[in-house]
Order: sequence, then C-alpha cells, then structure tokens
Amino acid sequence: MLRGGRLGKTMDEMASKYTSSMQTDVRIFKPVVHINMAHSIMLAERRIISPEDGAAILRALYELHERGVEALELKPELEDIHMAIEKFIVGIVGEEIGGKLHTAKSRNDQVATAIRMTLRKDLLELEAALLELVNNLLTVAEEHVDTIMPGYTHMQIAQPTTFAHYLVAYASAFLRDAERISQAFDQTNYCPMGACALAGTGFSIDRVRVARLLGFKRVMENTMDAVGARDFALQAISALAILMINLSRLAEELVIWSSAEFDMVEMPDEFTATSSIMPQKKNPVVAEIARAKAARLSGDLVGALSVMKALPQSYSLDLQELTPLLWDAVDQTLDSVKVMSRLVGAIKPKPDMMRKRAQRGFTTATELADLLVRKAGIAFREAHAAVGRMVAKAIEEGKSPDALVLDDLQAACREILGKEVQLTEDEFRSALDLDKCIEARGTIGGPSPRSVREQIKQLRRAAKNREKLRKARARAIEKAEKKLLKEVRRRLH
Ligand code: ARG
Repeated sequence: MLRGGRLGKTMDEMASKYTSSMQTDVRIFKPVVHINMAHSIMLAERRIISPEDGAAILRALYELHERGVEALELKPELEDIHMAIEKFIVGIVGEEIGGKLHTAKSRNDQVATAIRMTLRKDLLELEAALLELVNNLLTVAEEHVDTIMPGYTHMQIAQPTTFAHYLVAYASAFLRDAERISQAFDQTNYCPMGACALAGTGFSIDRVRVARLLGFKRVMENTMDAVGARDFALQAISALAILMINLSRLAEELVIWSSAEFDMVEMPDEFTATSSIMPQKKNPVVAEIARAKAARLSGDLVGALSVMKALPQSYSLDLQELTPLLWDAVDQTLDSVKVMSRLVGAIKPKPDMMRKRAQRGFTTATELADLLVRKAGIAFREAHAAVGRMVAKAIEEGKSPDALVLDDLQAACREILGKEVQLTEDEFRSALDLDKCIEARGTIGGPSPRSVREQIKQLRRAAKNREKLRKARARAIEKAEKKLLKEVRRRLH
C-alpha cells in the first residue's frame, strides 16, 4: 500500500515477513479500530475532513467493528494491522475518501495508543486475578491461625510460627504486587494520539477530544516522548516479573513441603501428575511450572529493557520487538496466578506433622533466652550463649528438646556465666511450650493468633479497596467504549 512512491513496488519476501508485525497485531485490532473512529470523529468536528467524508469513513469502520478481525486480509506484505485496516476502509469507500483517514496521524502514535489501551484492560484483569489469590490465601489462613509450624531462616529450622502467619506473608506480598500493577495502570493511561510521527501536526487537531473518546485520563504531552516511550510497558513487565518471583517462592515452598522429607502439606490430586514408570509418584507439576514461568518473566523483562537500552528518540522499528514480550508477560502471569490461586484454595496442610517438626528443632530457644533476660535479669547476649550451650550439649547427648529440664539450663549457665540463674522449673517449661511461645508474639505483624487475625482483617480491607478502584477503572473504560460507539452510530445516517 505504501510502496510505488519513494520505493519500488515490492519488498523482498523474506524481508517483508521478517519486519511485519501482523501476527502479534491481532491482539490490538479492536483498539486500533476504536482509535480510527475517535480520530475520524475529531477530524470531522474540526473540519479537517468534511462531515460527509467523516460519516463515510465511520460507516466503513463500524462495519469492520461488526465483522471483526476476520474481515481483514492479514498479509505480511501489508506490514501491520494499521495498514490492513486502512486498506479495508479504502476498499469500501475508495481511495479518494478512505485516503483521508490517515490525515494528522501516524502509525507511531497509533500503535503506542493501541498498546496502552490493550494493556489497560490486561492489567485490570491481572489485578482481579491477583486479588482473588490474596483472598484465597486469607481464607485458608483463617482456618489455620492455631496451626503451629516451624519457621525457617537459611532454610534451617528457626522459630515456631503458624501456617496462617506464613500464608499472610504471601498475601501481603501479593497485595503489594497488586499495588504495583495499579501504578503501572496509571502510567499506561496516557494518550499518545496526535503526536503523529514524532513532531505533532500543523492541522488544528483536538488531542484532548481523542483522548476522552478513548477513555484516557490524560494526553501524553511531548509528542516525541509520546511515540518513543515504552517505560509504561517496562513498568508493567517489571511489576509482573516481581509478582512472578513472589509466586515462584510460594510454589517452591509447596514443592518442598509436599516432599516425603518435610511431609507438611498434601498437594491436591487435581494439581499433580504421576510418573510414566514409577507408579507411586505424585509430582507437584503445577507448582513446578509456576516456578519456571518466573524465569520466563525475567526473560521478558530483560528482553524488553534491552530493546530500549540506548535506543535513540523517537520511533525505531526496534520498538515492535518489545510488544510480543509484553503480551507474553501478561499471558504467562495471568495463567500462573489463576492456576496457583486454585491450587492454594485446595491445599491440604498436615497440622500434626507441622507441629512435630516445630518441636524438633529447639525452635523455642529464642523464647528461653528472652525469658532469662526478663526473669533472671541477665543480658540477652549472655542468655543467648547459655541457651546455645544447653542446646549443643543436648545434641551431643542425643536429648530431644522436650526431654530438657531446668538442670540442663543451669549446667550451661554455670559453664558460660559462672553462676546459676533465678528461674523456676515451671517458668523453664513454659518457655519451651510452642503454644505459649506463639501466644507471646503478639506484636504488630507477629504470629500470635490475635495478631494474625488482625493482619487478615487489614489485608481483606486493603484488597476490597483495591477491588473498588479496579472496578471503577474498568467501568470508566467500558463507558468510554460505549460512548464512542454511540457517537459513531449517531453520525452514520
Ligand atoms: N508495526 C509497528 C509496531 O508495531 C507500527 C508502527 C510502525 N511504524 C513505522 N514507521 N514503520 O510498532
């Protein structure tokens, strides 16, 4: 369509396929039609084209809107969907009128606008799925505020916590991810239309009108920036990559905990597969794939960043290579969040096993040291050394934590501090009691049942507020779309 003027009539076939974005562009078909509609309405209102020509073009665009992308010829020779749509319009109304559609616009502002419109909806859908995951985690957490399990640092058993406290840790992280997605939406909601190739236009267009018709909050002002910027996409992919990294940590822990060695959770059958040779196997395949998808997202992010690195202003066709990475990031993350959300809802923890594991690793040692500080009036560092000595001796002698008595502690104190401490057998026992230890940790964000219930309440509220904002944004876009089509129909007769 564009050839035969400056250039020879045909492009090398391989070169044409190599540089065409037609396949990927199917995803932005609808927004591109809407952009053409909004632009034509504005051109006619500003008398840049006549109302009659405007109406003829809108009629053809409306037909395309009704028939869908199948009505288009998606040949790579046409370069991209923008040209395929223009060709369709010219095919209906003729070159003399259809040739006016591209007045005061460029594919450069058009593609940037269409990507933003597509991404806006994708981000809203992603946020909805993520908030559902948060709520699922909280629902499971509510049932397990008393389910004691070992907490780990360095993957070594550390202190007792609860399954609820653990799930709420992830819910908190995912809620931050939702906030990042929401911030990415904000940055995406700027309209580049009217920037044209890079330097705007001498026609007296109305950029604000077009932005409004397309449901954008603001015009993206600097015309060079408007066509050359993809930081909104980088921000979106970053937010999704971070989210996937968080999700992969959860997936990894579920894999570990469902192993025979830990045996603390049972993977629901529907989210596992078996082996083709080993009949006893139950493989945690969903969590494994989710774990690996995080790697794919990191790849999308590095790829997109690398496309942008040192790319001169404003438009270069390099930008076309970034777009599929963005859609891959969106699709992979959405699938991962949805399936992991279902898995989490069906997960079966094993409370008895969890408690046994928590008991085994001297996990209350910190609590005992704290008790020495409070009751015996010694410095925490001294208490730390004394309890450490007691544990070392117990391990040497093959004594389990529940076999320890006050005498063991006093022996360690004599050795480390050169004296015994003021402590009763009852006090000693209560410091080793898992339930009391958890109960005592009631600071903000701590694992005590009361504290965790409070955290759940706060997170539920925060998720609800996010959902409200998300819905309002979705409604605003929907409303703008309806209004645009109404404006088009009004001009058809
Ligand atoms: N297919 C292009 C893309 O996806 C659209 C803009 C092309 N602009 C150009 N001057 N060739 O980015």
